[in-house]
Amino acid sequence: MAIDSLINEYFLTGAVAGLPDRHFIGGEFVESLGQQRLTSVDPGSENVLGEFSGGDHRDIEVAVASSADALKSWKRVSPAKRGEILYRTAQLMKANSAWLSFVECLDSGKTLAEAEGDVAGSIRLLEYYAGAADKLDGRSVPLAGNYMGWTIREPVGVTAHIIPWNYPTSTFIRGVAPALAAGCTAIAKPAETTPYTALLLAEMFTEAGLPDGVLNVVTGFGVDAGAPLVAHRAVNHVTFTGSVNTGVNVMQSVAPNMTRLTLELGGKSPLIALDDCDIDAAVEGARWAIFSHSGQICSAGSRLIVHESVHEALLERLVEVTNRIKIGHPLKNPDMGAINSKSHLDVISGHVRRAIERGSDILTGGGIMADPESGKGWFFAPTIIDNLAQNDPVVQQEIFGPVLAVQVVRSDEEAIEAANSTEFGLVSGVYTRDISRALNLAREIDAGQITINDYWAGGVELPFGGTRKSGFGKEKGWEGIEAYTKVKSITAKI
Ligand code: NAI
Ligand code: MG
Repeated sequence: MAIDSLINEYFLTGAVAGLPDRHFIGGEFVESLGQQRLTSVDPGSENVLGEFSGGDHRDIEVAVASSADALKSWKRVSPAKRGEILYRTAQLMKANSAWLSFVECLDSGKTLAEAEGDVAGSIRLLEYYAGAADKLDGRSVPLAGNYMGWTIREPVGVTAHIIPWNYPTSTFIRGVAPALAAGCTAIAKPAETTPYTALLLAEMFTEAGLPDGVLNVVTGFGVDAGAPLVAHRAVNHVTFTGSVNTGVNVMQSVAPNMTRLTLELGGKSPLIALDDCDIDAAVEGARWAIFSHSGQICSAGSRLIVHESVHEALLERLVEVTNRIKIGHPLKNPDMGAINSKSHLDVISGHVRRAIERGSDILTGGGIMADPESGKGWFFAPTIIDNLAQNDPVVQQEIFGPVLAVQVVRSDEEAIEAANSTEFGLVSGVYTRDISRALNLAREIDAGQITINDYWAGGVELPFGGTRKSGFGKEKGWEGIEAYTKVKSITAKI
């Protein structure tokens, strides 16, 4: 259906037909053994979209058995054939991109344009890893005397993917596509507020020819479904994206089995504006860095580290553009969408309330809002807090909302020190017209990705992942598929 008819029908009826509500295991939707029912709500209107299964350890047992069984033949399927199935899934996604974007927008609260961007990016991920499936070569290694040696790359086996609610579609595809391309099977556990696109996509993979059981999706709460999945003995690799605390839990639960692990956790990423920067470019960069998806992005530019000589001019313009940001129902494509859940809205609001109580310098925003048309929905005003000290909680803690922490510095050295003085190391943006200064900062800042004179530069081809408490391991790019392989050395005596 065309996007306009989907939207009109939703605003007319408040209902969405065709949303899946059960686990997807063994190539079909199945009833849950766990008895809980969860609810997904449209964060832009507080309208209930539907109920879905809350699985538990019994559903995980079934899913893991199905994936372990499917692995036996999937790992022997020719790499070219695996790539072909991924490529066909990408084409199905393209044909259904209006529907997927519509569902993603409603389920997550991001604007329709942002959801469309995520779906397009996920299609690119599938195409990239479709092409990578038959290029996982090993090396030939010269040895002494009458010996020859090689390395081969084998799939790691059954992989588990714990998906967060901020990027339900792209985090799912980012993990599952390289895993399947490498010959692994995969079980995904979507977040408790955003179950739909993973379920819809699992069905699309099957339609594209993926054998039953190679990809399973179990929905439910983190403690009931996520925890038994990551702790399962038959799971060989876990990819977790989410909070630091849950990341620590996951590390502890995989330890007894020595399960391989990729952790993509939080951030407090800075955008650094030096004294010689293009102020307009920095304003534009900062605006998108923190207010895209209402700041609910692990790599959001949630800190602005600005040189004192451009501080005033830059903040004046940034406040001006921020004050023009319109919120509204995400399907109507406002500048900024909703906060995913009421509980997360309360978390953001708590951070800002405490900052206000400490007497912080709030330049704009600072409170909860609603859709001006309906008076409903979970929104937070785009907020800028100026002149913060390095040890301020707003500088140190991940808020995961549209709240920008501004720190003023007097030199490149101070900017580097400020950038490195949180426990995170995910991304950093550097704005300067001097390439040597830019490259010096790029070298000195401890983060997984540095962008120069832009904040969101990158693509599916580029590895992504942090250092320190932002996690370890890389997703996307070539590193993203190598993570799902293990190297075996083979030697022969002549
Ligand atoms: P969370 O880390 O608890 O949830 C992420 C995923 O982990 C969900 O699918 C959840 O069901 C699952 N999960 C929870 N406990 C689990 C366990 N013991 N074992 C296995 N899986 C488990 O994050 P939450 O509570 O939704 O958000 C809290 C904060 O986390 C946010 O405010 C934000 O700061 C951060 N976050 C970071 C994300 C990122 O992209 N790095 C994404 C989502 C949240
Ligand atoms: Mg939802």
